[in-house]
Amino acid sequence: MSHHKVEIFDTTLRDGEQVPGCKLNKEQKLIIAEKLDNLGVDVIEAGFPVSSPGDFDSVVEISKLVKNASVCGLSRAVKNDIKVAGEALAYAKKPRIHTGIGTSDSHIKFKFKSNREEIIERAYEAVKYAKSFTEDVEFYAEDAGRTDNEYLARVCEVAIKAGATVLNIPDTTGYCLPSEYGAKIKYLKEHVKNIDKAIISCHCHNDLGLATANSIEGIINGARQIECTINGIGERAGNTALEEVVMILKQHPYLNFDTNINTKHLYAMSQLVSKHMGISPQPNKAIVGANAFAHSSGIHQDGVIKRRDTYEIIDPADVGVTESAIVLTARSGRAALAYKAKNAGYNLTKLQLDEVYHNFLNFADQNKEVKDDDIHQIIETSKVYREIISA
Ligand code: KIV
Ligand code: ZN
Repeated sequence: MSHHKVEIFDTTLRDGEQVPGCKLNKEQKLIIAEKLDNLGVDVIEAGFPVSSPGDFDSVVEISKLVKNASVCGLSRAVKNDIKVAGEALAYAKKPRIHTGIGTSDSHIKFKFKSNREEIIERAYEAVKYAKSFTEDVEFYAEDAGRTDNEYLARVCEVAIKAGATVLNIPDTTGYCLPSEYGAKIKYLKEHVKNIDKAIISCHCHNDLGLATANSIEGIINGARQIECTINGIGERAGNTALEEVVMILKQHPYLNFDTNINTKHLYAMSQLVSKHMGISPQPNKAIVGANAFAHSSGIHQDGVIKRRDTYEIIDPADVGVTESAIVLTARSGRAALAYKAKNAGYNLTKLQLDEVYHNFLNFADQNKEVKDDDIHQIIETSKVYREIISA
């Protein structure tokens, strides 16, 4: 059975960069955009051109630089926003305008002080106008996660009628459960009459820690694009993490989905973004966190030393991590100590290992972690040191 292609829409430089303290300058954005293109993303959302002259300029330069991916600029459903986005993208080989409007009752009533019919008209006009700049127009229904499905389907139908090629269904507040979000996508696939003329995109926020699960559920129910960021960086609790959705689809081949991502670049990409944004992923972050391939308990270490996949479902090399790490702590066992001692140049017999292990536990109880250099000290101060080095 042939695999379905899932488009990866990276918004690190737009939704990701909205995080306080993560602002990037133009040079940094260009470095990241070039690496995203090499990583294999299908779309790079380069910025929100009307928001500032600096952002406009960055979108222009990224448009000139990027060779393979579509370059996308965000706009509200406002004529001038769309015009400025169109101008910023004029140099892009594959330009995409991303325009849209809030569709939940809360947005319509309190943000726009408007009504459902007026919002539908504004959606239509925005897409129609964006089409005068580029063929490729993505429409977002902001707060779709809390928008009534029947109304959302009407908005989508009108956006497609106006020429939208992609329909973005954002769970802007990260509220939906995976079953709800999946059902929403399924509903749209079944109820939007002209849905065959566009693809559906998942744009999920992580306020309840469900962004990745929701995006995958969206794909299973018929969406064909995921909007995500490196390290899951983004407003509040963040966006869907690119590295997570890509590796989920790769590690579950029976789901029949493929992406263009060269997963071997994922770790380096994560490091690059964290260096420029000044925020490291938490150590236990899936795929790219410092502990994602580290083992510290005796039972796990023994298993991994015998066979890596006993406790690892991903080969670290597949995401560009050189090797699994065996971290020595007071919870480690003899197998890990013997392994580390061997790497440090000592082949210990069973009796020698018993003696060194006793010293090791005393040391480990006083320290959070036992580093490679400490192993030399532990062995050198053990009673069997002379016997070990004379062997
Ligand atoms: O979260 C959201 O709704 C957005 C839109 C502007 C696409 O980022
Ligand atoms: Zn967002």
